[in-house]
Amino acid sequence: MTVKEKTLEILEKNKGSFISGEEISEKLNVTRNAVWKAIKSLKTEGYIISAVTNKGYCLSEKSNVFTSSLVCSQLNDALREKLNVTVVPVVGSTNTELKAVGEKGGSEGTVLIALEQTEGRGRLGRSFYSPKDTGLYMSILLRPDFSPEESLFITACAAVAASEAIDKTGVKTEIKWVNDIYLNGKKVCGILTEASMDFESRRLNYAVLGIGINLITDEFPDELKNIAGSVSNKKDDLRAFIAAEFLNIFFSYYENLRSKSFLSEYRNRSMLIGKEITFSRGNELFDGEVTGIDDEMRLLVRLDNGETEAFSSGEVQLVKGGIIK
Ligand code: BTN
Repeated sequence: MTVKEKTLEILEKNKGSFISGEEISEKLNVTRNAVWKAIKSLKTEGYIISAVTNKGYCLSEKSNVFTSSLVCSQLNDALREKLNVTVVPVVGSTNTELKAVGEKGGSEGTVLIALEQTEGRGRLGRSFYSPKDTGLYMSILLRPDFSPEESLFITACAAVAASEAIDKTGVKTEIKWVNDIYLNGKKVCGILTEASMDFESRRLNYAVLGIGINLITDEFPDELKNIAGSVSNKKDDLRAFIAAEFLNIFFSYYENLRSKSFLSEYRNRSMLIGKEITFSRGNELFDGEVTGIDDEMRLLVRLDNGETEAFSSGEVQLVKGGIIK
């Protein structure tokens, strides 16, 4: 990290109060002149910093430039050490970029956030609408010692973390099996996990977890209008807060993923449990009532013939949104 980035991190932590140039210079082990230069440069980037003699510097509460420092200042201490967060103005797809980093041996905890994606990708070959400055488009490089089957739990635990992080803004989201987040009947967040596997050992080389959240998107293309929604109708920039909350929560689950501690929260937040649904397997259509989600993330459905079956996500598709009642 540069002196400027470290200075910003200190200012972010003390946002709204003054901290002296001397204290910053001591913390960073640099001269006061170096701190002054960093502050000057930050101001030119749009940060609102006041400087008062005998009091020092203060980053205004209103200053909300979306940067990696703003995200990092809200991470748990241990996670701040572990993650390497970069924010870029625009990319095709943050997942595609991080897969290239994964191929080159990049380390776990590399996080890429874009203000805009021109070729955002969703599941099943769909695209993900990612207009500038209205959502959070973030990918995380992971190197878990997992089998491909276990990677399903990365996605499910990310869905819980996303739902919990979004709810910290004062809303109440639900998880639609397997990994879509809904608010007031509309999808506000999608997750795409892509993995590279070593065929001999049947272990993952790396996984890229991509999360897209519509935060203040107020216009969607016609094909998404009835399906997609946004977290907030205010213009507040929630990106750094939600990114950091997501990372804090996700990694707390991920560190003990095999214990599946996220699962009870997943079930609590499930949109489908207790609902009548229609789904397809191959060319066949089925109706039934969802009675639960088992420990392997399969959907438990009581079919019209009275029998309960467990369906994995690769096996069945919810038809037209799935829910009948
Ligand atoms: C889906 O709902 O089908 C999954 C959408 C995943 C979108 C995110 S945005 C960040 C990352 N980069 C991508 O290209 N896709 C994921």
